[in-house]
Amino acid sequence: MSLKQTVTLLQARNGINSVKQRASSWWSGVQMGPPDVILGVTEAFKRDTNPNKINLGVGAYRDDNGKPYILPSVRKAEEQMRAKNLDKEYAPISGLSDFCKRSIELALGEGADVVANGLNATIQGISGTGSLRVGAAFLSGFFPGNKVVYIPSPSWGNHTPIFKHSGLDVKTYKYYDPKTCGLDFAGAVDDISKIPEKSIVLFHACAHNPTGVDPTKEQWAELSQLVKNKNLFPYFDMAYQGFATGSIENDAYAVRLFIKEGHRVALAQSYAKNMGLYGERAGAFSIVGSSKDEADRVMSQIKILIRALYSNPPINGARIVSEILGDANLKKQWLQEVKGMADRIISVRQNLRDNLKKEGSTRNWEHITNQIGMFCFTGLTAPQVEKITKDFSVYLTKDGRISMAGVTSKNVGYLANAIHAVTK
Ligand code: LMR
Repeated sequence: MSLKQTVTLLQARNGINSVKQRASSWWSGVQMGPPDVILGVTEAFKRDTNPNKINLGVGAYRDDNGKPYILPSVRKAEEQMRAKNLDKEYAPISGLSDFCKRSIELALGEGADVVANGLNATIQGISGTGSLRVGAAFLSGFFPGNKVVYIPSPSWGNHTPIFKHSGLDVKTYKYYDPKTCGLDFAGAVDDISKIPEKSIVLFHACAHNPTGVDPTKEQWAELSQLVKNKNLFPYFDMAYQGFATGSIENDAYAVRLFIKEGHRVALAQSYAKNMGLYGERAGAFSIVGSSKDEADRVMSQIKILIRALYSNPPINGARIVSEILGDANLKKQWLQEVKGMADRIISVRQNLRDNLKKEGSTRNWEHITNQIGMFCFTGLTAPQVEKITKDFSVYLTKDGRISMAGVTSKNVGYLANAIHAVTK
């Protein structure tokens, strides 16, 4: 017997080969999944070697030099935190209580009755996605009506996976009119009136993602009435408070209106954009109940869900938020910085329109300045998106959404030229 044969025989006796064979086949049935519709764009952008490349995919704010922006108020909060020499103990399951209180007050306004009467069950979530996901898990387990969420069409690419992953069914209502690149309000009202009673309806509180199209105050009032008449449960996703108009109050208008009109809502909040805390994963989820006792019972069940999901949330981002919102001077500074980001986006919208005109584009680009918040739903078709990426290394999501936050005074000319080239 050769040495190799002896080794094989010994391995077979010890069961090594068979174990190896079995182990190597565990995942043979796993198919390659597609890249994420939004974050996959960044992966493709990073691989591109064109020095003129522009990433308008993910919604992440950039300064006018195209660089990530760390808010000076955040820097200052971190300094103040360092001086306190804080420990690294676990947060409670529901997160830092000061953070939770300040978050719901940011949404509903300081001194809000809901908070004063203890009607809110608020937890610290893992940014917007994690907060939405905890809320979805709670609704999936405890919502007493139809376990179906109606989301606008289109909606943020992660809404459907988040809700489905939690065991809820997802359906859509009309929202956007491609002919006007604006709101299809009649369509939305028509579709929402057909939703079966006691279903869940999701609204983007402001700066709708991906379209940048928000209802007016009057339209929100109509929607509130409709939701009440149909006995629907409103779930607000507020990922951009301050980012749409530059004002925290204005951008919370819809949520505050619904609360004022007696709706019991669910609310997910994120500090990724308005404090630039993307990687810190700071967010909040709230259910507004009808009594303190109800809110306490809801809270107890949400805590049980969180404990099994991730035990308790990370502390650093939430501490930064608390530090800023709890210090009058720092908060004032932060509000100016949010406005600064919103204003830059508003001005770069005009800049893009002007440059398209300069390029000689005769298309109607009014929607670029009519839309609001981080995104512009350009109206570019999928083949045009493919072409602008291939020919100009301009990266955006396939639906034609561009993150206005990635447009700067330096790249706007190049971008306008590229858009004109693929749309003329
Ligand atoms: C986006 O829509 O680009 C952002 O909300 C980031 C994300 O996680 O998708």
